[in-house]
Amino acid sequence: MEKLLYTGKAKQMWQTDDPEVLRVVYMDQATALNGKKKDRFAGKGAAAKGISDLVFHYLIDHGIPTHFIKQVSSTEDLVKKCQMFPLEFVTRNVVAGHFASRYGLDEGTVLTEPVEETFYKSDQLDDPFINESATLALDIASHADLEEMWGHCRKVNGLLKPLFEKSGMQLVDFKLEFGRLSNGQIVLADEFSPDNCRLWDLQTDQHLDKDVYRRQLADLTQTYDEVLNRLQNVLAEEN
Ligand code: ADP
Ligand code: TMP
Repeated sequence: MEKLLYTGKAKQMWQTDDPEVLRVVYMDQATALNGKKKDRFAGKGAAAKGISDLVFHYLIDHGIPTHFIKQVSSTEDLVKKCQMFPLEFVTRNVVAGHFASRYGLDEGTVLTEPVEETFYKSDQLDDPFINESATLALDIASHADLEEMWGHCRKVNGLLKPLFEKSGMQLVDFKLEFGRLSNGQIVLADEFSPDNCRLWDLQTDQHLDKDVYRRQLADLTQTYDEVLNRLQNVLAEEN
């Protein structure tokens, strides 16, 4: 019998008959300000899932280990169950968001080297910034684990920056999460969608990510559908 394990801000995680497999349901919901702002958007779940599936397929084809197994419907995937590291790995290529506000910078400056930041995933504590020594002290991950996960992040950035550029978008920043499988392997988990990255149109600088909801700039589902269409077109040309 399937059992609901967790309802998050964007997805539900369901247990399946296989203890190693979860069913993920992408919900028609968006949140901001750590869940304090919450709204329903018809079609958002399918668009976010569609983008994430394309990106995960692309990463798997280029050697990144992930939790992804297969799609089961327009809003549901099967994934390998992980013991998640309670960490968010943020990579920034361009100054935006909290990096701009924290350091008093204007958005839009391209960073000479990507900036790497780790956050401790805790809704209660508002996802505080965490460094390596605190991560070790809290026994969240080892030095080798962190090296491995940041290695994956760098490779993902190297693969996705050009992919989004071909689709007419600048990959400004993004957040990844990792988990450990029962065999000990560390894999990329969670999702990659405009819920957890910033994408700017290369011609117009128009926001094509969740900032359209955070800043009330445009319709969220239409924006995500636009990203999905662009990616589908570029990937179809590649194949
Ligand atoms: P949040 O918890 O931030 O509100 P979501 O609504 O996206 O986020 O919920 C999905 C939850 O499932 C996240 O907490 C994420 O860490 C977790 N998760 C993602 N992939 C897996 C996986 N393969 N195995 C176990 N948990 C996962
Ligand atoms: P930030 O500028 O708000 O720190 O966000 C940096 C990137 O990380 C951006 O692409 C959004 C993503 N992100 C999440 O996916 N979840 C979060 O909780 C936060 C704070 C950021």
